[in-house]
Amino acid sequence: MALGLDEVIAAETVLSDVDGAAGRLVLRGEAVEDLAGVVPFEAMARRLFEGFFDPLPSLNEYTRALGNARAEAFAEVAALDERLLARGAFDAMRALIARLPDDTDFASALKLLAAPAAFTTAILRLEAGKAPAPPDPDAPHAADILRMARGRPASAAEAAALDAYLVTISDHGLNASTFAARVVASTHAGLTSAALAGLSALKGPLHGGAPGPVIAMLDAIGKPENARAWLEGALTRGQRLMGFGHRIYRVRDPRADALKTTLQKLGGDAERLALAAAVEQAALAILRERKPLRPLDVNVEFYTALLLERLSFPPEAFTCVFAMGRMAGWIAHAREQAFSGRLLRPQSRYVGPRPPKAA
Ligand code: CMC
Repeated sequence: MALGLDEVIAAETVLSDVDGAAGRLVLRGEAVEDLAGVVPFEAMARRLFEGFFDPLPSLNEYTRALGNARAEAFAEVAALDERLLARGAFDAMRALIARLPDDTDFASALKLLAAPAAFTTAILRLEAGKAPAPPDPDAPHAADILRMARGRPASAAEAAALDAYLVTISDHGLNASTFAARVVASTHAGLTSAALAGLSALKGPLHGGAPGPVIAMLDAIGKPENARAWLEGALTRGQRLMGFGHRIYRVRDPRADALKTTLQKLGGDAERLALAAAVEQAALAILRERKPLRPLDVNVEFYTALLLERLSFPPEAFTCVFAMGRMAGWIAHAREQAFSGRLLRPQSRYVGPRPPKAA
């Protein structure tokens, strides 16, 4: 019995394939490293939607429609109140998404895709006591996200780095959040319901909530020479090292390398990068010593943290930025599950008390 559903095949998909032994991720037939930094996020999201919305507009029309969807979603920001804002960026963004209609048509799908970008950037501005910057429907998605978050345009290199990030994390097999989204879609509930399930599963630190704690770990370690002692102490206290380990990968997560390349191209704070390299090296060595039977390597979240920090997102918003990309995968998986037509309904083994047998 696999209590974590390890090895259980619960769906067939044409969207992505995670090969944990080889450390390979294929998205719609292409290796992630051939897509990140090569195709824009709009094109990746369109590819993921192919076959699930008929007819799908051309890439130009799709890009324009996504820009318009950002503007439409932005209108919903007016519903944000002080209490919601006080819940933090992720909860506030999720609550605004819950207000969207629960439909399954293409226009609703695009609005959902645009929503984490339009909402998170507005929330970050409001949290900083500034007026939200409205979307520019004509701008590329990644560039517009950075401009909305900062209130001024980002450099082309920064926009390209965010674009590469969004493509890298757009889909990843039947991970916990995608499974949650597919379970909801299998009941034929709408796309907003499926996306809310995905968002809620993503929030936890074992999944998309890991990169914020990666920054906390780097800050606590402070200097490369402190890495080994700090990491040993954390493991001795029974903590997990954030940004390391994976359910499927038994080797390095290929997304970590895609993001490391993106970060190197962008350039950054040399001291921060040296600290990260020292922490990565020390963590891998210690994990090998302590868990010789369980190959534990770096995962996508370690370099996500460094890249999103370099792009000036606050750690509390990292999971929201993850959702900006993964929303494309959730929507495509939800449509695929609804089309495949089978209700996802596993069983549990009862281990509680039973009524006494009748004499
Ligand atoms: N640090 C220390 N020990 C670890 C770690 C870690 N990061 N990951 C796994 N282990 C140990 C774990 O304690 C266990 O040891 P033992 O057998 O002695 O009890 C062994 O490795 C196997 O762990 P598991 O719980 O069976 O592994 P899992 O497949 O359930 O966990 C994971 C996968 C990602 C939840 C886990 O590696 C983890 O908690 N990592 C840290 C959080 C993190 O970085 N999450 C982001 C994941 S990547 C983004 C995504 O795709 O979702």
